[in-house]
Amino acid sequence: MMTDFDTEISKHDGFSISEQGNLLFEECSLEELAKIYGTPCYIYSENIIRRSCREYISALVEADIDYEVIYAGKAFLVQAFCKILAEEGFGLDASSGGEIYSALAAGFPAKRIYFHGNNKSEEEISFAIENNVGTIVIDNRNELESVNRIAGGKKCLINIMIRVTPGVDTHTHSKIRTGQLDSKFGFPISEMKDFFPEILSKENLIYKGLHCHIGSQLFETEPYFLAIEEMVQLIKIIFKEYQTKTEYLSLGGGLGVKYTDRDKPVSIKDFVQQIIKKVKKAFHQNDLPLPIVIMEPGRSIVAEAGITLYTVGALKEIRGIKKYLIVDGGMADNPRPSLYSAQYKAIIVNKYNQESTEEVSVAGKYCESGDILIQNIRLPQAEAGDLLMFLTTGAYQYSMASNYNGVPRPPVVLVNKGKDGLMVRRETYQYLNQNQVFPEWLAHK
Ligand code: LLP
Repeated sequence: MMTDFDTEISKHDGFSISEQGNLLFEECSLEELAKIYGTPCYIYSENIIRRSCREYISALVEADIDYEVIYAGKAFLVQAFCKILAEEGFGLDASSGGEIYSALAAGFPAKRIYFHGNNKSEEEISFAIENNVGTIVIDNRNELESVNRIAGGKKCLINIMIRVTPGVDTHTHSKIRTGQLDSKFGFPISEMKDFFPEILSKENLIYKGLHCHIGSQLFETEPYFLAIEEMVQLIKIIFKEYQTKTEYLSLGGGLGVKYTDRDKPVSIKDFVQQIIKKVKKAFHQNDLPLPIVIMEPGRSIVAEAGITLYTVGALKEIRGIKKYLIVDGGMADNPRPSLYSAQYKAIIVNKYNQESTEEVSVAGKYCESGDILIQNIRLPQAEAGDLLMFLTTGAYQYSMASNYNGVPRPPVVLVNKGKDGLMVRRETYQYLNQNQVFPEWLAHK
């Protein structure tokens, strides 16, 4: 008999079975964790996070090129995690004042922060400059003006990179595709040649390099190769026509991960190796000095390090049509299925050693018919009270979670070698209400 452990869990890292027969994640009993922290609950493996960080770094060292790896904070960013990143020698792509604030509060080195975003407010720009954020990635003309003006007002010189859309299409969900010409991000590459003198004319800005990000959850390296070719041509123009060296080239993030067995991502090692090989070749062929290459992974660092626990609260059978298993979370803690039709694997923790005998859909508790976390999955016979675990939930879930229906967001727990500790407490009703006030004319008498 094949159990869910054999068919599903054994293919994922971090899991084992205790002598008593309990399912463990990083040597912590999942049923025990659910009792301590309640459900829903996000759980992260420190070991898997550190291992993916090290895979990027060792592949880049092996590829023998000057590099920086900066983690894309939008995938998941909390203070305890920033500490791990800093220890692993990573930089940070922060896309808002809020992300910069969390990183600084955790003691993350400001110089290693790159400030991204396509509409940074004046307050955010000032905040970044006052806190010595290392580099601002300029997205558009207005921003070039405002960063230059604000830097001037503070008598500062600011390192900038320019975000360019290289006009490369990728095979990923349209909502997470960013490198094509028609994009709200960055400068169209074709306009850069004429625009470059304006960049150089800004007296408070120091041009450091170019940035591109072509998309997310990508399984192929070919689109990166095309982007590299485009970027090299631009770097050549900048070098030849404006005698300006492009010190840094950021290729963004985007490496895909395994949500279900259908996903076949390239390994971090192979990805880095192929990309750097292409960079070296392209720069060599164009007689250009090699840049410092920046990689900006988000999902491939955290996605597979995270799981989510839910408790089954109700079962509903629409006779002859479908059986729903309803959990105590849903689209507010994981908006990805409803936003991108994202697919997940799940197992019943307390029945991991049983055979999957029935097909069900996993529905959330939120007041929308679209709140379905998994359409059609085979699971053992489920009952109310079962503990359901979703795999690969570390990226773009907690960071995109909402308080829809007034539900407090779940806690975030870190586990390692049998230890468990909170990184974020479960929100409370008080927390959700703390910023609410009454306009004067409605105020309590
Ligand atoms: N750099 C930039 C400029 C980005 O915009 C992104 C992601 C990354 C790096 C990191 O990409 P990653 O390595 O994580 O693929 N919410 C969507 C994904 C949005 C990605 C946004 N940008 C999802 O849940 O699939």
